[in-house]
Amino acid sequence: MLLGVFFLPGVVVTTNLRINASKEMETLSGSCLHIPCTFEAIEGDASFNNSIEIIGIWYKNDHKNVNNLVFDSSKSVNAYPMNITGILKKNDCTTLFSDLNTSHQDKYYFRIENGKFKATADCDPIQIKVKDSAWKPNIAIDLTNLKEHQSVTVTCSAFTPCPHSPPELTWNLQQDSLRQTEKNTDGTFTTKIQENITLSDTHDGYNIRCSARYPVKGGNRTAETEVTLSVSYAPRNTSASISPSGLVSAGSRVELSCSSRAKPPIRSFTWFRISEHGAMNVSVGQDYSFNATEGGDYYCEATNDLGNQKSSVRFLRIKGILNGHLFWLIIALAIGLLVLIFLVIYVRCFKSKQPTHQQTQTPAGEEAAVQTLSTAAAEELQYGEVTFFKGKPEASSTSVEYGKQEETVYAHVKVSKSRKCSTHTTDSPDDIYAQVKKK
Ligand SMILES: *[C@@H]1O[C@H](CO)[C@@H](O)[C@H](O)[C@H]1NC(C)=O
Ligand SMILES: *[C@@H]1O[C@H](CO)[C@@H](O)[C@H](O)[C@H]1NC(C)=O
Ligand SMILES: *[C@@H]1O[C@H](CO)[C@@H](O)[C@H](O)[C@H]1NC(C)=O
Ligand SMILES: *[C@@H]1O[C@H](CO)[C@@H](O)[C@H](O)[C@H]1NC(C)=O
Ligand SMILES: *[C@@H]1O[C@H](CO)[C@@H](O)[C@H](O)[C@H]1NC(C)=O
Ligand SMILES: *[C@@H]1O[C@H](CO)[C@@H](O)[C@H](O)[C@H]1NC(C)=O
Ligand SMILES: *[C@@H]1O[C@H](CO)[C@@H](O)[C@H](O)[C@H]1NC(C)=O
Ligand SMILES: *[C@@H]1O[C@H](CO)[C@@H](O)[C@H](O)[C@H]1NC(C)=O
Ligand SMILES: *[C@@H]1O[C@H](CO)[C@@H](O)[C@H](O)[C@H]1NC(C)=O
Repeated sequence: MLLGVFFLPGVVVTTNLRINASKEMETLSGSCLHIPCTFEAIEGDASFNNSIEIIGIWYKNDHKNVNNLVFDSSKSVNAYPMNITGILKKNDCTTLFSDLNTSHQDKYYFRIENGKFKATADCDPIQIKVKDSAWKPNIAIDLTNLKEHQSVTVTCSAFTPCPHSPPELTWNLQQDSLRQTEKNTDGTFTTKIQENITLSDTHDGYNIRCSARYPVKGGNRTAETEVTLSVSYAPRNTSASISPSGLVSAGSRVELSCSSRAKPPIRSFTWFRISEHGAMNVSVGQDYSFNATEGGDYYCEATNDLGNQKSSVRFLRIKGILNGHLFWLIIALAIGLLVLIFLVIYVRCFKSKQPTHQQTQTPAGEEAAVQTLSTAAAEELQYGEVTFFKGKPEASSTSVEYGKQEETVYAHVKVSKSRKCSTHTTDSPDDIYAQVKKK
C-alpha cells in the first residue's frame, strides 16, 4: 500500500488519507458533475478530530503545486465552480462540480485540513472527462425467449452525471411514461422510464427506440438507442386457396394450397375434408393436389410449437353435376310450380260454371251497369228486345206498335253512371226504364 508521506521541517509526519470514489468520471460540457465521495483518515503523527473545523480542498493535476488548488471549502470565492455537498464531519466528501467545460478535464486530488491533520488522497485521484456528445440510453428487456401473451417490463435508463438536470427520456412505447431519477448504490444517478407490455405477434420485429436528451448550457445533447424484439407466436393469417377456383370439370387436377405465418415457422400443414362424419384428415403438407371426382369442402390447419390455426373453408364444385342442396332446391321449385299450375286450372274451370252478369253499354258511351233483372223473370222469359228510356214511357203508345202477341214488360232499372275524367259532380243517376218484349 502506498502511503502519502509528507516531509515537514524538523519532524517526519506520516499522515494518510484515502477516498472512496470512482477513478474516472464523465460529464457533458455545459452540465454538472455529481461526485460521490467518502474519505477515511488514517492517523499518523496527527490525529483527525471532527469536533474542529474540517476543510475540504480540491487540487487539479498536481497537488504539490499550490497554483493547482481549485477549491477550498473555507473560501467564499473559488477558481472552479465546485461545492462540497457532503458533510465532512461524517466523512462525506461528495462534491458537485457545476458548469463544466472541456478546460476542466483533468485529474483531481482531494485534501483534508483538520487542525494539525493535513493529508491529501494522493493515491486516489479522480480523472474527470468532459464530453460534448451524449450517452446512449440503455433499453433493458430480457430479449431471449419472448412469446406472445407474455407480459414484460421494458426499461429505458440513462446515465445521469448531473442529477440536477437529468436527461429527458422519450420512446416509441407509451408517451406519458413516468420519469424517475434514482440513486444507485455507488452514489451515482440513473434516470429511467419503464413500461409493462403484453407481447403479441405484432411486436415481432418491432423496434423499441429510446432517446435521451440532456439539457446543457445553451442547448441539448441527444442520443438514441434501438432494440428489435423477436416474439414467438402461434400461426396467424392461415388461409387456403384453391386452383382452379370456381366450377371444375370432373377428373381434372385441383390444387389446394395453405399459407400461414408463424414464429418459429410452421411445423406442419394438415388438410381436412368436411364430411357427414365431421372433418377428416385427408393430407399432410402445404399443398394438396388431386384429380377431382366429386365436390367437397376443404380447409387446412397450420401448426407450430406454440399452437395451430384453421383456415376458412374452400369449396370444390364439379361442373355439370347437380349436387347437394342445389338439387333439392330445384326439385322443390318444380313441385311448387306444378301445384300452382293445377290451382290456376281448377279455379278457371270452377268459375266458368257460374252465371255471368249481363252488361249493356249505352250508345252515348256512358258505362251503365244494368242490374240483373229479377232472376225469376230472367229464367222464365226470353227477351226479344230491350229498349231503354229516360223517364217513364207511355204504356199505350208502345204496346200498340207490337200487337197483342207480344207481351211488354217494363222494369225500373237502376243505373249508376260514371263519367271517366268528369268534372261534373252534380250528376245524379237518371231514371232509366227498360222496355222488354217477350217473344
Ligand atoms: C478535538 O477538539 C476538541 C476541541 O478543540 C477538543 O476538546 C478535543 O479534546 C479534541 N479531541 C481529540 C481526540 O483530540
Ligand atoms: C455552493 O453552495 C453554496 C451554499 O451551499 C452556494 O451559496 C453556492 O452558490 C454554491 N456554489 C456553487 C458554485 O454552486
Ligand atoms: C470554461 O469555463 C470557464 C468558467 O468556469 C471559462 O472561464 C472558460 O473560458 C471556459 N472554457 C471554455 C473552453 O469554454
Ligand atoms: C466504496 O464505495 C462503494 C460504493 O459506495 C462501497 O461498495 C465500498 O464498500 C466502499 N469502499 C470503502 C473502502 O469504503
Ligand atoms: C410492471 O409490472 C410489475 C410487476 O410485474 C410492477 O411491479 C410494476 O409496477 C409494473 N410497472 C408499470 C409501469 O406498470
Ligand atoms: C432543449 O430541449 C427542450 C425540451 O426538453 C426544448 O424545449 C428546448 O427548446 C431545447 N433547446 C434547444 C436549444 O434545442
Ligand atoms: C392477418 O391477421 C390479422 C389479425 O390476426 C389481421 O389484422 C391482418 O390484417 C391480417 N393480415 C393479412 C395480410 O391478411
Ligand atoms: C389426373 O389427371 C391428369 C390429367 O388431368 C392425368 O394426367 C393423371 O393421370 C390423373 N391422375 C390420376 C391418379 O388419375
Ligand atoms: C393426419 O394424418 C397423418 C397421416 O395419417 C398424421 O401423420 C397426422 O398426424 C394427422 N394429423 C392430424 C392433425 O390429425
